[in-house]
Amino acid sequence: MRILVLHGPNLNLLGQREPDIYGHLTLDDINQELAEFAKTCEVEIEAFQSNAEHLLIEQVQQARTNGFDWILINPGAYTHTSIALRDAFAATQMPFVEVHMSQVAAREPFRHQSMIAELAHGTISGFGADSYLLGLQAIINHELGRGPSQVES
Ligand code: DQA
Repeated sequence: MRILVLHGPNLNLLGQREPDIYGHLTLDDINQELAEFAKTCEVEIEAFQSNAEHLLIEQVQQARTNGFDWILINPGAYTHTSIALRDAFAATQMPFVEVHMSQVAAREPFRHQSMIAELAHGTISGFGADSYLLGLQAIINHELGRGPSQVES
């Protein structure tokens, strides 16, 4: 299984950006943690960060052709604004999990709306860098048939 990890705008500044909200780990630290976890689960991941909306959209459009099965995405502020990103997911039907480091529902009202949440397999928010790991775990569980809707009661 191959998973594309997409990081949106300003996430390249993690470590120095509002550490009270986003913590002290850098994006490289997070990508490293994800890579180590992926390795233990025998899945392949590739990470891409961009501040440019169109580059993220192109990654979504090309994900299937590039051999990815899932996308794990933190779209940053494009979460709240990008109909174009939503359209890319709708057009490609690429399965994805949306993650946020902060608990967006407890922040400013403009962060309460996500343009893409409705199309996401699920959303994880509020666990700092662990949101990414939890998102990756959720994808892997789902693929192994261990997702919540797949386990018999
Ligand atoms: C974020 C939340 C967004 O509202 C914000 O614009 C970000 C990061 C998060 O990970 O908590 O850039 O997606």
